[in-house]
Amino acid sequence: MTNDRPIGVFDSGIGGTSIWKAIHNLLPNEQTIYLADSKNAPYGQKSKQEIIALSMKNTDLLIEMGCKLIVVACNTATTNAIQELRAKYSIPFIGIEPAIKPAATNSKTQKIGILATKGTLNSELFNKTAEKFQDIKIIEQIGHGLVQLIENGQINSTEMTQLLYSYLTPMIEADIDYLVLGCSHYPYLIPQIKKILPEHIQIIDSGEAVAKQTQNILREKVGFSSAESSNPIFYTNTNPKVLSEILENKYPVEEMDF
Ligand code: SIN
Repeated sequence: MTNDRPIGVFDSGIGGTSIWKAIHNLLPNEQTIYLADSKNAPYGQKSKQEIIALSMKNTDLLIEMGCKLIVVACNTATTNAIQELRAKYSIPFIGIEPAIKPAATNSKTQKIGILATKGTLNSELFNKTAEKFQDIKIIEQIGHGLVQLIENGQINSTEMTQLLYSYLTPMIEADIDYLVLGCSHYPYLIPQIKKILPEHIQIIDSGEAVAKQTQNILREKVGFSSAESSNPIFYTNTNPKVLSEILENKYPVEEMDF
């Protein structure tokens, strides 16, 4: 079964490109359309109802553009809205949940850290997942301010370094051996995070797992593209500069009101 319609990917901004890159690496022939809803970032501080409404607005647009499957490349939107999206629309959705399971099952110290938005850490889906690992101490930290700095192109700023030190030091002191990045923006901070964490602490993000799950759903339900290459399309509803830079100026980015 082949299906040449595009895969839609949306995020509250540019962070979901970390997920998009993993998908594009694994499935380079699949046409993709990425929506960066940077005008409404961060989602992590909004109410569940607002996050659902924004997720539906992005979904309506991707469906209008003919997408065959949608990847919710935002932890906050996944944990707060994916059930409602699946209930309303008939196409498949793939979400990103914080990768607690691989961290909890492999931890030797029985202590893991999770850095995520307030919206993700307060969500029912996150708390239900965390409850499954009663023997593991999970040190939760809201990454206040990190998404805004990334969206403003201030990944390497002093303010970023200071925030990361303040969020990670208590986790190091608590003896974690895994740090779960529970927000699709945070993989862009891995170089700075590695400078702060001792070497034995492993960092887990969700990109590869989401890409594999996308491949599985295409194989089982939707169909792969028959094309031999793809021209990814990126839309943003703010100034395209930061999104272009994070994509190393390799792809065209269009500004659009949505
Ligand atoms: C946000 O918009 O607050 C961050 C996105 C995420 O949770 O992945």
